[in-house]
Amino acid sequence: MLTPNELRQKYLDFFVKQGHKIIPSASLLPENDPTTLFTSCGMQPLVPYLLGKEHPLGMRLTDSQKSFRSNDIEEVGDNRHTTFFEMLGNWSLGDYFKSKQLPWVFEFLTSEIKLDPKNLYVTVFRGNKNINIPRDDEAINIWKNLFKSVGIEAEVVDGAEKKGLGNGRIFSYEDNWWSRSGIPDKMPIGEPGGPDSEVFYDFGADLMIHEKSRFKAQKCHVNCDCGRFLEIGNSVFMEYVRTEKGFEKLPKANVDFGGGFERILAAINNDPDVFKTELFQPIIRKLEDLSGQKYEGFENNKRPFRIISDHIKAATMLAADGVFPSNKDQGYFSRRLLRRSVVYAKKLGIDKNFLSDLIPVVTKIYAEVYPEVKKQEGTIQKYFSEEEERFRKTLNHGLKEFEKLITDNLKKISGKQVFDLYQSYGFPIELTVELAEEKGLDVDFVEFEKEKQKHQEISREGAKQKFSGGLADQSEQTTKLHTATHLLHQALRNILGEHVKQSGSNITPERLRFDFSHPEKMTPEQITKVEAEVNSVIQKDIPITMEITTVPEAKKAGALALFEDKYQDKVKLYKVGYYSVEVCGGPHVEHTGILGKFRIKKEEGIGRGLRRIKAVLES
Ligand code: SER
Repeated sequence: MLTPNELRQKYLDFFVKQGHKIIPSASLLPENDPTTLFTSCGMQPLVPYLLGKEHPLGMRLTDSQKSFRSNDIEEVGDNRHTTFFEMLGNWSLGDYFKSKQLPWVFEFLTSEIKLDPKNLYVTVFRGNKNINIPRDDEAINIWKNLFKSVGIEAEVVDGAEKKGLGNGRIFSYEDNWWSRSGIPDKMPIGEPGGPDSEVFYDFGADLMIHEKSRFKAQKCHVNCDCGRFLEIGNSVFMEYVRTEKGFEKLPKANVDFGGGFERILAAINNDPDVFKTELFQPIIRKLEDLSGQKYEGFENNKRPFRIISDHIKAATMLAADGVFPSNKDQGYFSRRLLRRSVVYAKKLGIDKNFLSDLIPVVTKIYAEVYPEVKKQEGTIQKYFSEEEERFRKTLNHGLKEFEKLITDNLKKISGKQVFDLYQSYGFPIELTVELAEEKGLDVDFVEFEKEKQKHQEISREGAKQKFSGGLADQSEQTTKLHTATHLLHQALRNILGEHVKQSGSNITPERLRFDFSHPEKMTPEQITKVEAEVNSVIQKDIPITMEITTVPEAKKAGALALFEDKYQDKVKLYKVGYYSVEVCGGPHVEHTGILGKFRIKKEEGIGRGLRRIKAVLES
């Protein structure tokens, strides 16, 4: 059986053989992308290149990208959903298209990792009259020939969602279309997307999985939710971009393939439970030790085991990229992951601090491929233990609050009460429901949902304002602020010292936000000095140059080695005269004179040893 590391390597090697260059995973925190909090799929860090910018490593790339989907926090608990996962990618930036890419996917799955082709089913785009794009017959024919080559006559079914599986092997669906915002109608202007083709693995040809599921009244088909089929990969034929006028072809057609690393491993195991793979089993075994409970064979235990092992892993991976628990932005999700872990651990009978024991297990799983995680183990343990300590107190306090709600004639816990427990004490709904059940009480879910929606609307409004920058925004103002970020970085190093290192950056047309390592609050004098230095570089109207070079050359040039692990081969080096040298994807302005007046608006702490500056350019 392949280990996770072997599978990842086999995948990368296979695509290297087909002329691809390996790019390392980008951070879970998007850089210079104001539109989103997390890297949630493989294409995110590559958006500028998919839109037509030249990539320093060429037109064929392959990678395994760390991804985090915060929307799925409450989905975790079944055998397949996780918030953190890796996406195996192969990318054609205007190079090959369907007729090359689909055969490679098929060859990798059937010859390299030896999945039985009989267990593979595929889907394609059914077409959409409104946008004048027809059914993807080209993909259908390619798949037919591929299946034929292994002795399978592949039948095509349109409408399996109503008719069921039948004898089909290739299915067309309306929503076989991929963009970060979903189907064509939902795409904002400027967003790239296109028809896609998904590969599913069949775990239960005898229909046992469907018939045992709560979906048994409906017909089973590859896209139903019963759990018999698991999507393991998706090839997006990204050839369109939404414009004011509708859909237009991108200057070059791309392919974006994303393979679910955990899920492919589950397919190799021929067991649909991704938590049974070695990407989770070490954590589950440690939890078994800590709780004295068992995962296998105890259905009621599975959900808490899965939730804790997913959440602690996700929180650890996020922390390694700079996200620690807080009430703000990404930190809020870290906090939720850890709190939910503590609550579910209570269900397994773990009442003492345990997060710190699990972290080394997580870092060990990823030590070889993401050494940055292992390196930060001690710091992560420290922060998480502090968070756990505090939360246990809150939780106990919340339990007391819950007890106070219980009066003699209470029949039903109101939606507002459930929401308050959820909001103020981090009580997941399940916990309130369970406690209520123990006391023989009902819970007003309808009102709870209303309360929650009200709250979500408020936070959405906030988010809209904050991320008003638009998609992969490369407006003039954003570009100016991006250049100003390089100047700020250098000025901070000159004035505070060489220990200053960028830990995050987010730019909207209104302001830049720069996170960096520094142990204490900056004094007003230091702030004034930094501003003055940046403004003097602006006034000198220094030209900015870009060259494509290698990592060793970039280091020799004294470049800030921030992104040194980003590309293994060629990198773009941006120089602001002799003042600042940084490896960066761009874009930047041509000379500093046009930036205007740089002003720091705010300097604040965002966790131990980390500071955040918000700054603007005034005209
Ligand atoms: N972008 C596609 C997805 O996330 C394929 O990588 O499914």
